[in-house]
Amino acid sequence: MVTIDSTTFDGLLKHLTVTETSLPDTPVDAPVISGRRLLDRLAALAEIGAIDGTTGSSRLAFTDADGAGRDLVVSWMDDLGLDVTTDGIGNVVGCWRPKGCDPALSPVMTGSHIDTVATGGRYDGNLGVLAGLEVIETLTSAGVIPHRPLAVAFFSNEEGSRFAPDMMGSLTYVGGLGLEDALATVGIDGAVVADELDRIGYRGGAPCPGLVPHAFVELHIEQGPVLEREAIRIGVVEGVQGISWSEITIKGQANHAGTTPMALRRDAAYAAARVATFTRDLATDLGPPQVATVGALRLHPNLVNVVAEAATLTVDLRNTDDDVLGEAERRLLAHLDRISADEGVAITARSLARFAPVSFDPTIVELIETTAAGLGHSTMRLPSGAGHDAQMLARVCPAAMIFTPSHRGISHNPAEHTDPDDLEAGANVLASVLLALASAPAIGNDGAAGEEAP
Ligand code: GLV
Ligand code: MN
Ligand code: MN
Repeated sequence: MVTIDSTTFDGLLKHLTVTETSLPDTPVDAPVISGRRLLDRLAALAEIGAIDGTTGSSRLAFTDADGAGRDLVVSWMDDLGLDVTTDGIGNVVGCWRPKGCDPALSPVMTGSHIDTVATGGRYDGNLGVLAGLEVIETLTSAGVIPHRPLAVAFFSNEEGSRFAPDMMGSLTYVGGLGLEDALATVGIDGAVVADELDRIGYRGGAPCPGLVPHAFVELHIEQGPVLEREAIRIGVVEGVQGISWSEITIKGQANHAGTTPMALRRDAAYAAARVATFTRDLATDLGPPQVATVGALRLHPNLVNVVAEAATLTVDLRNTDDDVLGEAERRLLAHLDRISADEGVAITARSLARFAPVSFDPTIVELIETTAAGLGHSTMRLPSGAGHDAQMLARVCPAAMIFTPSHRGISHNPAEHTDPDDLEAGANVLASVLLALASAPAIGNDGAAGEEAP
């Protein structure tokens, strides 16, 4: 028997109409950022939760290490004189309103996340946040005053590996998940978000949903093999594929491994293995770009001579086409029914996250492309395989992303690496794009500061 918990976020997924955008008349060249300073900050942040013998870090959301990483980044925001606010889910926004800009206008926002998976690299998320700080420091040193304020944000729990869903902070920031629901989320270790936020001192008082930015641009490593394989320096991200996460719980019967005839077993481990192999076959059958992953699996009692009584596993399905993603979900559920009947086990499936594919703002996509080309970089357009905070911000304002190559396409692994020249190139493209957006009143939301996401 398969029971489905229909608690999905569908009812909360409000797609908002965002303002039409248009390109500036002339390209905007920002002053050149300091690659050294950016690398130094990336290295200093990577020291927090450093994984021995690697260049990676472990800062799962709302752990002590996440708290210490937050403290360091906030100290850098303070050093730059930013107006730093923390909201009820721990999203931190540092706003730069230099004398000479119009402080009443909503800011152009950049940023990403600084939490990591337990086996994380030093660039995933961190690059986007620290490049944002680097842009502001560069503009400050050069005496460049944008028309609009600039803001750098780091959003809570982007990874979602401890507390589902992923992109929890940015989803809550844009009003797609209620603050109380987010705070009540229970993690894989039994911890509750609200308690953990209180413990690390990051349950702030700023409103959540938060201020609607004029526009949002996120710099991130690609986390896949495409840019390196094509020898392209800057990826122009047109959108993000849809994501479906579910947790599957299988209940069988514990029994003696030596005495129980095979035909009489209700073996949760075997049923879990069937789910895992089906998931892989499903992706093969649907073909690219469908991907499917069983990333977590727990057995109970997990002993050599006991038929497993229970199994809990996760399935991560992604596709750029929402219809095909829906088909993958349906086929998985049908297969769970079959396994349940064949093996005499009870199976329940719970949705942990479900996000439709997102298309980014075409005008900002074009701005990124022309800016990167103008700076002499090779570019290509591509979709993002990973989830990102920008896909949530895209619900309330024009948004897009810039990618830099990932060595051998490796990510969510301490070995994650991007060449310093590529990091620097990405940050320079970000600087010029942010300045263009903050200088040209025609681009982005027209809104004045003070408007909050619904
Ligand atoms: C976040 O990193 C995700 O795409 O899983
Ligand atoms: Mn990321
Ligand atoms: Mn990640």
